[in-house]
Amino acid sequence: MSSEGLHAPRKRLSKGTLNLHHAIASLMEELEAVDWYRQRADDCDDEALKGILLHNMREEMEHACMVLEWIRRNNKDFEAMMDEFLYRKGEIAGHDD
Ligand SMILES: [Fe+2]
Repeated sequence: MSSEGLHAPRKRLSKGTLNLHHAIASLMEELEAVDWYRQRADDCDDEALKGILLHNMREEMEHACMVLEWIRRNNKDFEAMMDEFLYRKGEIAGHDD
């Protein structure tokens, strides 16, 4: 399950690398769920069900953000990139380090 995405022998990976792998795999799954719920809501012609699907989509966004915050707190490289790119005004791309 969680080792499906490993690209090196598990025994050669540090605990920190394995934990980051688990977090990244979870983040991918949460974002995929957001996409699925959003698409199903768009395709749904029952307003009550659409509301439930959009509610569930937001719950998946919450899960994704919690994992992202764990990544920020536990990986200095991600933390530095988030400090540089998140919650900034102006152009997103176009500035190099
Ligand atoms: Fe979730």
